[in-house]
Amino acid sequence: MTKKYKIAVIPGDGTGPEVVVEGIKILETVACKCDFSIKFKHYSLGGEHYKKTGDILPDKVLDSISASDAIYLGAIGHPDVKPGILEKGILLKLRFHFDQYINLRPVKLYEGVDTPIKNKGPEDIDFIVIRENTEGLYAGAGGFFKRGTLDEVAIQESINTRKGVERCIRYAFEYCRRRNKEKKLTLCGKTNVLTYAFDLWERTFNEVAKEFPDIKTDYAHVDAICMWMIKNPEWFDVIVTDNMFGDIITDLAAMIQGGMGIAAGANINPGGVSMFEPIGGSAPKYTGKQIINPVAAISAGQILLETLGERKAASFVEKGIKKVLRHDIKDIAAGKMGYTTKEVGDLIAEYIINNC
Ligand code: IPM
Ligand code: MN
Repeated sequence: MTKKYKIAVIPGDGTGPEVVVEGIKILETVACKCDFSIKFKHYSLGGEHYKKTGDILPDKVLDSISASDAIYLGAIGHPDVKPGILEKGILLKLRFHFDQYINLRPVKLYEGVDTPIKNKGPEDIDFIVIRENTEGLYAGAGGFFKRGTLDEVAIQESINTRKGVERCIRYAFEYCRRRNKEKKLTLCGKTNVLTYAFDLWERTFNEVAKEFPDIKTDYAHVDAICMWMIKNPEWFDVIVTDNMFGDIITDLAAMIQGGMGIAAGANINPGGVSMFEPIGGSAPKYTGKQIINPVAAISAGQILLETLGERKAASFVEKGIKKVLRHDIKDIAAGKMGYTTKEVGDLIAEYIINNC
């Protein structure tokens, strides 16, 4: 019997919808090739929807989404909505509600893509960042005291639970083993200053490491990671870190792999509903112009397929991506591709149809 998947689609704001259309096109193309089917259910969430209805993410929508095998997200963020409302109300709420405790971000420089790092090429830039995705500074712990007065105090605490840290680290060790590249896992922390939070991280890391004698372990402070990522990106295989550091270092990492037009990520609950997204924002100024690069969204679709266990289909998507990056697209940046958003999607789809 052919497998049927249900995917919740949240196209979101700005250029989200136009890249998601291309992502769906590719998912449908490979589903057809690999003999499974996908039913997409669209949800209109985001800034536009919020402005029209006042709804951010109602519980009944969450319930409906929970019946899906995965969530495919375009972008959230609207210039007319105060920062924090949509990010916390939609993106973070989805991550927390579905307990997507892993944020997985592959950093891979493909042939044909320029990196700003001098003398480094695709053989040097190919690593994975695994970011804890439900705790740390993102847990929302803290508050104000005497807000708006001269005596104001603002506290924002980083919550690190043994359970949350351990499951993330364990996932990273397992991922590193499966990936089977250098079999090297680097913990990114700040043990010289954050002596509570990263003491827990380091102890847990060293304990879990005992169960994985085949994996080499390494440690670097987050500031040093930023330096090495530019100077010697080839040192990294898999990096594991907390929520805030992971957020910061993956923007840096996205730039060395060619930029936001390429970078994709996954919010994973290994036993639940996971969510896949291009990591760039909604780029409101480019909305509807068809100049934004859909490769990041298509690549998010590839990780979605890998996570569902559709490895062959995922490999077809990557083949298509590699082909257009190497032979067709002139430049990754919006407006410089030499093709429209839709044309890039079409080129990838055609390649898969004819060559996979
Ligand atoms: C990301 C984004 C989000 C984050 C924002 C939009 C809340 O920057 O996915 O990296 O900080 O996690
Ligand atoms: Mn970020």
